[in-house]
Amino acid sequence: MSDGAQQTTTLGYAPGKVILFGEHAVVDGQPAIAATLDRGIRVAVSRSGVNDGPILRSTNASLPPRCRPDPGGEGPERLRAALRVVVDLCGPHTRQLQFSVDGAIPPGAGLGSSAALAVALLRGVHQWQGEPIDDETLIERAFAVEKVFHGNPSGVDHTTIVRGGVLAYEKPRGAAIGTATSLILPRRLRLAIGVAGPHAGTATAVAALRERARNHPEHYARIFHGVGALARAARLHLEKGELGAVGELMDLNQGYLNALGVSTPGIEALCAIARERGALGAKLSGAGGGGAVIALVDDDPEPVRRAFAAAGYTAFTTTLDSGRVTATSAASEEP
Ligand code: MEV
Repeated sequence: MSDGAQQTTTLGYAPGKVILFGEHAVVDGQPAIAATLDRGIRVAVSRSGVNDGPILRSTNASLPPRCRPDPGGEGPERLRAALRVVVDLCGPHTRQLQFSVDGAIPPGAGLGSSAALAVALLRGVHQWQGEPIDDETLIERAFAVEKVFHGNPSGVDHTTIVRGGVLAYEKPRGAAIGTATSLILPRRLRLAIGVAGPHAGTATAVAALRERARNHPEHYARIFHGVGALARAARLHLEKGELGAVGELMDLNQGYLNALGVSTPGIEALCAIARERGALGAKLSGAGGGGAVIALVDDDPEPVRRAFAAAGYTAFTTTLDSGRVTATSAASEEP
């Protein structure tokens, strides 16, 4: 292994993600469909000059400006703990590194900022070490970092972010890792995305839902199965380019998410705006309790984006294309 001594700065990049179908139910072993965004997080890796790090600096509002993983360091405990895992995985020389993070994913919005940070950090460190990392190892390592951020993640976020494109993902209950299948779409998916404010965090939302489910396990299990059935059906419609049906299933999925208690008035308002403006369907993406709403449209997502922005929400558009994401129309807009 090279110690990276000759290297000055290396870069690691990872995109954000949306979940088209199946969040929360995927933690219970049901299938989900997710896709990468055309915006993400970039990590520049260089030597810090000290050996008690790594140090993390960020221009991204989702992250603290400076973080050391040793006790007494700055930054939230979860981020310090995540950096400790990176050191454990990548070796003690990682302690001499500094990470400068910037990105364009709204923080705490269910758009995969923590999984993207984990993947971008690991890619940057491996670049710095001059050691290529294959996707399987990266997925395994990013999962270890994601567990610090999210407690008991299904793995859909970081797997999608490593693989890229549009994926069907499933991790049966009790399985150590999930399986992901890349989908080839005959039609582009055009989305308007509105952010209903920051959420309380994925770990909190997942734990609170587990707690609620404990009181009525059979009813919640039925909902999780219902969501899984929607994801299976949606995959078939996606693969045939039947976007009207995909939109209807998104609306149904949102109904289940509301029943699960992870929707909010802001999310419901964004869904209503999208449907009024002719979206084929709309739902929250990610953990809920705030965060992003994704609205699928037949053609131009601009009118829905404008309506989101006019109602006071941060909004942008994106296009998912044949297993890849194109950067055609993305434009972050503050209201
Ligand atoms: C978060 O993006 C998706 C959840 O289903 C959690 C997970 O899958 O780990 C809410």
